[in-house]
Amino acid sequence: MIDVRGLRKRYHHLVAVDGISFKVNKGEVLGFLGPNGAGKTTTMRMLTGALPATAGRAEVAGFDVFEQPIQVKRRVGYLPESPPLYDELDTTAYLCFVGRLKGLGGAKLKAEVTRVAEVCGLQDVRRRLLGNLSKGFRQRVGLAQALMGSPDVLVLDEPTIGLDPNQILEIRKLIRDLSVKHTVILSTHILPEVVQICDRVIIIHQGRIVADDTLENLTSEQRSLEETFHELTQI
Ligand SMILES: Nc1ncnc2c1ncn2[C@@H]1O[C@H](COP(=O)(O)OP(=O)(O)OP(=O)(O)O)[C@@H](O)[C@H]1O
Ligand SMILES: [Mg+2]
Repeated sequence: MIDVRGLRKRYHHLVAVDGISFKVNKGEVLGFLGPNGAGKTTTMRMLTGALPATAGRAEVAGFDVFEQPIQVKRRVGYLPESPPLYDELDTTAYLCFVGRLKGLGGAKLKAEVTRVAEVCGLQDVRRRLLGNLSKGFRQRVGLAQALMGSPDVLVLDEPTIGLDPNQILEIRKLIRDLSVKHTVILSTHILPEVVQICDRVIIIHQGRIVADDTLENLTSEQRSLEETFHELTQI
């Protein structure tokens, strides 16, 4: 479902992503881990066609991200690090807008807005202006827009950041349930979250992949994911 080969991003003199390659199969939930500044967000932005690469290739849902960006965007739900909200719209108007961008209309659009609003616990803020929502609710709306249209691939940059504990549990369960039909890449700094929802883990450090394995292989009774992470991202 996702095939990345030699992907690289240089910002002037800084190499943020240094030629990484990996594949993600359909139905997998991949945890993307790394210290601050490791290159997670940069990689996710390239995968969704939001940022051009300096070199390398990426295929998502069978389409080349750089040559067929529109086809890719139709099949990817992306939650960026800061949710892309228009403060002057209310929740429903915003979700309708996103749905229309994804090609939905009429009764289908209405049903989809109702579905994602319910899934993300937005029923009570449907008519509130986004600019007036609390941080956690803004995050929920960001997540809801990524889910609109049930895209094949979900790219979620720190999806549970700022959410309250109840919502965190619900969203984790939702991501697990989604993985039946969807492919998910998510970044997080919460390692127990990875243990709960991910099948596979990529650890990225200074723009390079330092681990790409199943959770099972990266941890053991003697070694927690925290310890593995610490060991691989020290140098
Ligand atoms: N637009 C930009 N211009 C210049 N440098 C950038 C830009 N965006 C990111 N960087 C740099 O690229 C590197 C990787 O950043 P990135 O945001 O991908 O890290 P990250 O792994 O997502 O970190 P975090 O865990 O803090 O979210 C950092 O050194 C960052 O300062
Ligand atoms: Mg980031």
